[in-house]
Amino acid sequence: MKKDYLNSIPLEGFAQIIPRRRSIIERAPATMPQYEYNANVLAKNLHPSVQHVIVTDIVQLPNAKLYTLSPDAEKGTDKLAYFQPGQYISLDLKISGSRLTRPYSLCSLPSVKEYQIVVKDMKNGFASEYINRNFEIGTRVDISEPSGFFSYEPLRDAGHIVGIAGGSGIAPFVSMAKAIAEGLLDADMTLLYGCKTEEEILFKEELEELQKKCDRIKVVHVLSDETKEGYYHGFISKELIREFMQEDSSVFVCGSQGMYDYIRTQTEEMALPRRRVRFDAYGEYRLSERDEGQFVKGKQFELRVLTNDGETHVISARSDESILVAIERAGIKAPSKCRSGECGWCRTRLISGEVYTPVLTEHRRQYDQVAGYLHACCSFPLSDCTVTINCE
Ligand code: FES
Repeated sequence: MKKDYLNSIPLEGFAQIIPRRRSIIERAPATMPQYEYNANVLAKNLHPSVQHVIVTDIVQLPNAKLYTLSPDAEKGTDKLAYFQPGQYISLDLKISGSRLTRPYSLCSLPSVKEYQIVVKDMKNGFASEYINRNFEIGTRVDISEPSGFFSYEPLRDAGHIVGIAGGSGIAPFVSMAKAIAEGLLDADMTLLYGCKTEEEILFKEELEELQKKCDRIKVVHVLSDETKEGYYHGFISKELIREFMQEDSSVFVCGSQGMYDYIRTQTEEMALPRRRVRFDAYGEYRLSERDEGQFVKGKQFELRVLTNDGETHVISARSDESILVAIERAGIKAPSKCRSGECGWCRTRLISGEVYTPVLTEHRRQYDQVAGYLHACCSFPLSDCTVTINCE
């Protein structure tokens, strides 16, 4: 049978291919032709490794600033990468000897001409305080391509979204609302927006305008520290979520870590399937009571960092800060984007030592967990450690 099969193969055909290929190779030019394939050009436009931008407008909002970032043609960025409403960019910053990144959700309508981000005034917010004090019109900064999975996907999500936002977590929903109003996003959205007081509401007029302009958008304000006519009072509880849910709504949540803990319990008590509830990446994970007994308090460990260029850095790492923060604090530029375990950009190899990874940030592939890879942004040292990183 095998022999019959072999006999059936037209081997004379193969014999002709080889000399034909040889002659093509011999006739080929000595240098590679510089073709620009359309697919490559598109991929480069959608996923640039870095984008150079310049601050072209700053608007003061309640306890926050709205920045407009435009392409910096002088540094080689003519247009920005297109994005999906709900995605974020990561800013590349140098602050007192540290090289670090910070993710910010885009709040503008998808465009290649400009992006907008909101930076909240945060007490002890290392990067946000730096940005709001130092950024001015003309400031140049490098940013990542748009990233993240917090965007509407018609094949996966329901036609009605319940958006739950807290404070500056309103940013991705503003982008979504604008896209719905412009017909770029085919969905209805009810936005439950929680703030402490009326004064703290961001984009109040803009959201009202969008609501008036498009009947697919509804905004419900919820104030926790104030009782006022026209506003709901309290927290965004399961009762409130239920009031605005339709039979098959998808729930999108963006806010602080504390708010996520609360909303998670509410949606679990509502027995909503996990696929119907989506949480945005919230940036730096902060250890709390939930992690009690699983990390070491108030210790310094030795961290050996082996970089891809052959260097070994011996630095100190605090037990309550991530490996990524320790590396950045030492002025070493490590790759990172979301800072919450989701994107895998900070994936690194643990050669020796032990770390703690909070369960809420555990997005590693199973193979990585077994093979000793970690996401440096959400791994906290439990002992002296050695890791490898690809420096940028
Ligand atoms: S920076 Fe995204 S997983 Fe660490």
